[in-house]
This record gives sequence, C-alpha cells and structure tokens, in this order.
Amino acid sequence: MKITKLDKYRPALHFSPQQNWMNDPNGLVFFKGEYHLFFQHNPNDSVWGPMHWGHAVSKNMIEWEQLDIALSPDEHGTIFSGSVVVDWHNTSGFFQEEPGLVAIFTHHLEGENHPQTKQMQSLAYSYDKGRTWLKYENNPVLTHPTKIDFRDPKVFWHEASHKWIMVLATGQTISIYSSPNLKDWTFESEFGEKIGSHDGVWECPDLFELPVEHSSEKKWVLLVSIGDNPEFDSGSRTQYFIGSFDGHTFVEEHDDIKWLDFGKDNYAGVSFSDIPKEDGRRIYLGWMSNWRYANHVPTKGWRSQMTLPRELSLIEIDGEIQIVQKAVRELEPFFTKKEELNHVIVNSKDKHHFNIHADYAEVELVLENIDATQYGLTIHHTNTQYTTITVDAKDNKLLLERKHSGNVDFSDNFPKPQMVKLNGTEQLQLRLIVDSSSLELFLNGGEHVVTSLVYPDKACEGVSLFTSEGEIKVVHGKLSIPAKN
Ligand code: FRU
Repeated sequence: MKITKLDKYRPALHFSPQQNWMNDPNGLVFFKGEYHLFFQHNPNDSVWGPMHWGHAVSKNMIEWEQLDIALSPDEHGTIFSGSVVVDWHNTSGFFQEEPGLVAIFTHHLEGENHPQTKQMQSLAYSYDKGRTWLKYENNPVLTHPTKIDFRDPKVFWHEASHKWIMVLATGQTISIYSSPNLKDWTFESEFGEKIGSHDGVWECPDLFELPVEHSSEKKWVLLVSIGDNPEFDSGSRTQYFIGSFDGHTFVEEHDDIKWLDFGKDNYAGVSFSDIPKEDGRRIYLGWMSNWRYANHVPTKGWRSQMTLPRELSLIEIDGEIQIVQKAVRELEPFFTKKEELNHVIVNSKDKHHFNIHADYAEVELVLENIDATQYGLTIHHTNTQYTTITVDAKDNKLLLERKHSGNVDFSDNFPKPQMVKLNGTEQLQLRLIVDSSSLELFLNGGEHVVTSLVYPDKACEGVSLFTSEGEIKVVHGKLSIPAKN
C-alpha cells in the first residue's frame, strides 16, 4: 500500500478534508462493505461556519474517498453532530425492500431571525448507501421547550430492551431517550449532575458496552467531550465513565475523573461497531484538534484531520477498569520495518540516533530504566525542528513537548507541554505513529494515549534516544517507514 503526501502538513495516514473546514466525526457506520465517515464541515471556508455533513467512504479506514456533501442546511437550521444507524428491521418505515441508513442529527437554528438559539433532533434517510439523503418530512423529531444546549444525538439499537436509545448532550448533563421507530422519542433519564468534570459544556456523548479483558464481565462506557473553557490550559477534551445501563439509566461505578487522552488533540470522538448488532470491534475516531486553536492551525485551504481509527477495549489495572486504545490492525500494511534493535544500552554519552527520512513513520520501543533520572526520545522533524518525549523516572510521568516542533506561533497555548502520569511498571512500552502533522503515542499497549498535532516542515528525518544521567536498556525496538506498495 502506498500513500503519497500532497501538500504541506497534509497527513498521509489520517483523514483530512480536501478543502475547507472540518470538525467532529459524525455518523460512523459500516454498511455493505464500506466504512462511512460523515463529518462537521463548512464547505465554504476554512474556519468554522454554517455546518453541513461532509462524507467519506473507505474499505480499510485508512484510505478514504471523499464524496459529495451528505446533508446541507435547510429551513430548520444548520446540521450539527449526530449519528447514523442501519435500520435493519425497518422500524422507521422508511424502507421497503432493503434496509437502509438513517441519520439522526441536530438542527441548529440561530441568527438575526432567531434571537433565541434552538437545537432539535431530526432525521434523514438514504436508499443508496449514503450517497444521497432525504430529509424526513416531519422534522424535527425531538425538541425541548427550554434547553438551549440540546445536541449531538448518538443512537444505537439496544437489543435487551428492544428499542433505540439516544444519548444527547444537554448542557452539563447527558439525557437519555428511547424510541421504537426513531421518530417518537421518550425521555428516560438524565446523567451527570455533580459527577465527573464540568470544566466546559458537555458535548458529543457516546454509550456502548464492552467486555472487560480476561474476565467474563461486561461494562457500559459513556464518553463525554467537554468544551473549551479559557480558565483551563487543557482546552477541549474528553472524559469517560464506566458503569451499568439497563435500558433506562446509566449509573457510573467510580468517583474519579477518567480522561480518554492525555494529549491536547483528540476531541468529540465517537465509536461504532464494525458488524451489525453492536458486537463487533468497537472502533473509535476523534477529531484531532482542540477548540482552543482549531481555527488558527497553519494549514492552507483545509483545516483539521481525524485521529487514526482505534479499537477500544476495557482492562482492569489495580482494581480499576479503564479504556485501552489501539490503532486498528488495518494500519499495519502501510508500514515496513527499517531497523530493529535488541538489548541496547543508552546513556547520556551514547545517544542513539536513527535516520528515517520518511513522510510517516512508526517507532516501537520496550524500555527498561536501569538508573536514569530522565530518559526519552526525540523526534527530529528536520535539523532544527523536534519534539521530545521525556520520562521523568522520579515523578513517574511523561512529557510531550512540542515547543520546538515547527510552527507553534499561531496560539499561546499550543507550545505548552502535555503530560501523563504513568502506572509505574518496570518496563515502558511505547508505540509512536508520526504523520506529517501529528504524533499519536500509545503507552503500554494503549493504557494511556497522547495525541498531539505538530506543524514541522517535514514529518520525520530521524529519532534519537537519550538519558540525562544513568542508563536505560532498549529491550526491544523497531522503526518502520512507509511500505512500498
Ligand atoms: C463539538 C461541537 C458539537 C456540535 C458541533 C458543531 O465539537 O461543538 O457539540 O454539534 O461541534 O459543529
């Protein structure tokens, strides 16, 4: 598989719109052999503006073909985030011969003629694998008399109670609704008061069930993105809750706040099952940006990209259940091994440098700290532009610093370091995927993830390993570059 880079900063492995603005992924669904990605799109400008749903399809979730715009604004407003389901049993009555796709999205009404912003949920359906859409004539299907923040419906079929479930972002809470037919919705419950982080408005919820690895247990996971708040350096980010769901109410089973990503650039992500009935792989895709600076990133004519698709699972560490994220296996054919190292000692005099010279690259390392106080990895984008990943052994934390990574001047916030507290195991396993303008770092098999944009002149000229005082051992290392075909 060969992917060629097009223009400056244009990612090779990540979806980015051909032109103009993109934010949240919407309507992720697998149907008739194709993965669909719809997305928040302003087709007329490279900053956020009147929202449409853009559309792309793929056979492998890495190479995407962008298609025509799926949904455009109408008399009910612009088209905010939402989801797509396959109506296998024609519960909606939209389909006669074959099952088809139904989009459930937010209509957003504001402007001169609408002094009060209004958000409501509407439907559209497609007979031709998402290429064209018909809006439901009785839109909207769900409104609220008072709530202004009333958006981002994520809908799934809940087999146990035999009905559709919608989770909706409602200000500082998530509201849950149910329906037999996608058209008539009943309020079930509201989640979130005094629970979790309320640093910003709650957006883009997602609710799904996952098995806990190495056990017979299953748990429900609720993802909740929280919007930017100038009081905090983090900007927009995503928290999640683990608990139970009985078809009516979600109950969380922990008091701590759980973050999905320790990098700044993974927001508004949602997931889908890659086979019908919700029991396939649980695949997640996020918007790889941050509302703090998304409108200012230095790309020309297009803005934003998605994270790599990631498979989600649950594991228990020290009695706590948490999410693990791994890049989907479909990524593997895009890499070929360049170099391997085993049992190599790195110390402060003997830095190990490896040339890469590639449009994208992968670095896999299993590191054992012998007696270093700090150690890590430098990604040399060019001779002068670099990003460092430093482990502080004493405090057991990892810092990703991008202040020298290239163009950082477009935002005061962008150059600030990103930090993750480690679990403190003897060995540290890192998998880093470097693309033209991003770094995705998966630690210890995806227990922690740091997703970070960078804007260097080139993706990756080389990497080097370093310590400050003391030694580390590279138990195993592998560097990979683009596969030739
Ligand atoms: C999240 C979000 C959603 C909204 C959309 C508008 O990034 O603010 O809540 O539907 O973006 O583009």
